[in-house]
Amino acid sequence: MQLRIVISLSVVFLAIGLFAQNEPYTERQIRIYDEIGENLAIIKNSGRDYVLPMDINWNYYYLTGDESEGAILLMNGRTKTSTIYKTQAEYRRRMPDNEANNLKDLKDFNSDLMLQLGRTKTLWVDYSSMVNFEELGQRMQNLESINNLAPIIHNMRKIKDEHEMELLSYAIETTAAGLREVMKAAEPGMNEKDFELILKYKFQKADCEHLGFGIQAASGPNATHVHYGNNDRQTEKGDMMVFDVGARFAYYTADISRSFPVSGKFTKEQKEIYGLVLKAQKAAINTMKKGVNIQIPANNALDVLNQGLFELGLITDSNSGWQKRFWIQHGFFHHIGLVVHDVGGYGGILEPGMIITMEPGLYFPADYLESAKRRLSRSVDSAEIDEFIKKVKPIFNKYINIGVRIEDDVYITENGNKVISKGVPKEIDEIEKLMKETSLFNN
Ligand code: GLY
Ligand code: MN
Ligand code: MN
Repeated sequence: MQLRIVISLSVVFLAIGLFAQNEPYTERQIRIYDEIGENLAIIKNSGRDYVLPMDINWNYYYLTGDESEGAILLMNGRTKTSTIYKTQAEYRRRMPDNEANNLKDLKDFNSDLMLQLGRTKTLWVDYSSMVNFEELGQRMQNLESINNLAPIIHNMRKIKDEHEMELLSYAIETTAAGLREVMKAAEPGMNEKDFELILKYKFQKADCEHLGFGIQAASGPNATHVHYGNNDRQTEKGDMMVFDVGARFAYYTADISRSFPVSGKFTKEQKEIYGLVLKAQKAAINTMKKGVNIQIPANNALDVLNQGLFELGLITDSNSGWQKRFWIQHGFFHHIGLVVHDVGGYGGILEPGMIITMEPGLYFPADYLESAKRRLSRSVDSAEIDEFIKKVKPIFNKYINIGVRIEDDVYITENGNKVISKGVPKEIDEIEKLMKETSLFNN
């Protein structure tokens, strides 16, 4: 008797589990129906991922879970039916693993659309999907308007649902585990490529087949380049390293940066810069909360950096506009999701469900002061720059070749936030402690 209950309960749970697989796409489509009313929507799967060698429109994928190249999703708001039209080749190649969509041959799309258009006043089109309007021209005569669906899908995509949270969390935890491994493995003399290979090994072992972007394993002078991907230098004692890495799971990508000395022990100067960036990053994360404009945490990070740079003598006037930006080489945040710089923009109010990076950094390339005159020549008086360089140079010299970026993935909750990438340490003492451990990859 008891066993029978257990068995039937298991079947129920299995059924719920299978249903749950279809749920995210069905749920997302229901929200689109809420927006389009009785009208039609067309979303074509065309476009390019900027890392993976695949044609994809992530808006299409988000609504269908389907990757068929060139396929079109037609959503009929009156009948509430969603149909994917795909080529015969794609039909054979991929069976969809969810039931949110009906399937038809792509060659039926035009005639089906023509039939259904007769009853619709507004055609919603995902502009990024490049539907052939010329071809449609004739059939659109009775339409009152054509609306852009993309902003609606983007608004949905910037708030991650439970399904997306699971996928992203796994990508982020896998990335954190990879970074822990390179911290343990690090020793002077290793090539940057060795670190890249350790990360790739760890990711592929964890079923993260793809990367969200090219791995940055930068050492010494390379660590002062914001974007670096050659990964071919032999590391030396005394080098700082900057890693910027994102494993991708089911296309969702993490984005974590960590910086540490290859030898496992921070010098005084490395500590000063690292400590400052960490303080700025924490100040920002502390204010990443529901209802707050995302510019506020970013400005908090900037204020902390400026105060610290002033105390170190790396800027001479903390009220000068140009000096405030002098050492800042990149933005501090972006949404992550199906692409690393995900839809959602760089402004606006934080809402529960957003996953946003916070990634301040400071970099001291050897030629930075010399190049300042050229960079600032249009906006700042040259005597003022000369004076600045004269004062700052002796201090700057101590920090040449130090690069630090600390980047975490922050999930906005109802009550505050959760740092999903916290599995890889960022406190100086924790990093030094972890780096004393040995790795699988040490000889
Ligand atoms: N990895 C690119 C970025 O941090 O934005
Ligand atoms: Mn980032
Ligand atoms: Mn990054």
